[in-house]
Amino acid sequence: AVANMKGLTQGRLRLAVVTTAKYFAPRLLGIFCERSPGVEASLEVTNRERVLERLQTNQDDLYIFGQPPAEVDVESVSFLRNPLVVLAPPGHPLAGRGRVPLAELGEYPFLAREAGSGTRLAVERLCDTHGVSLKIRMELGSNEAIKQSVAAGMGISVLSQHTLGSGGGEVALPDVEGFPIERHWYLVYPTGKQLSIAARTFMEYLLEEGSQVAEAGMAGSQRSEPLNRGAA
Ligand code: PGA
Repeated sequence: AVANMKGLTQGRLRLAVVTTAKYFAPRLLGIFCERSPGVEASLEVTNRERVLERLQTNQDDLYIFGQPPAEVDVESVSFLRNPLVVLAPPGHPLAGRGRVPLAELGEYPFLAREAGSGTRLAVERLCDTHGVSLKIRMELGSNEAIKQSVAAGMGISVLSQHTLGSGGGEVALPDVEGFPIERHWYLVYPTGKQLSIAARTFMEYLLEEGSQVAEAGMAGSQRSEPLNRGAA
């Protein structure tokens, strides 16, 4: 039934995703649109806080978060692993060692994502829990800018592993206690929202094939274990 529906699906599909999802969302959407030529799709990429604002003002059909929002009543389902890893310049004192104590993250200049970033929230939560305070040297509003700044030796940082596959500067991935932070991406929509046929078809496709499609497109990243797909 799903296969028959796909070719016939019409209408708009508006998707808003957090920045770390931009490494796989275009590929997912591209394959979906090829199969459903009647669907006119749009993709908005921004940070967690802004995606949440869009959800609260009902601007899109579906959303991808790195953690379902607690502020709103939502339906959410995880579809892909999202490990967050520590990045350091090559040759940094944290690089190439065994298990580094988490407290040592607080000893080096840290490059942080902007306030409103879910990546930043996840790092702050881990550090707060363990009483570690970071020395924030700079705030940067983009994963790419952080990667380049780490490669240029300006500091250490924490990013989604999926931001690393796309080439660019060389960075080391130190083995630090508490890492990788094991997160997942979630497809989210407000509870009670009437989903369009296009949105429902996309959701079925994402849950059936999303992890394979996304990972096939991510050169150099680790394959993940099949997911246990409970609603969060
Ligand atoms: P960010 O979102 O782009 O806001 O950091 C990523 C996430 O929440 O996992």
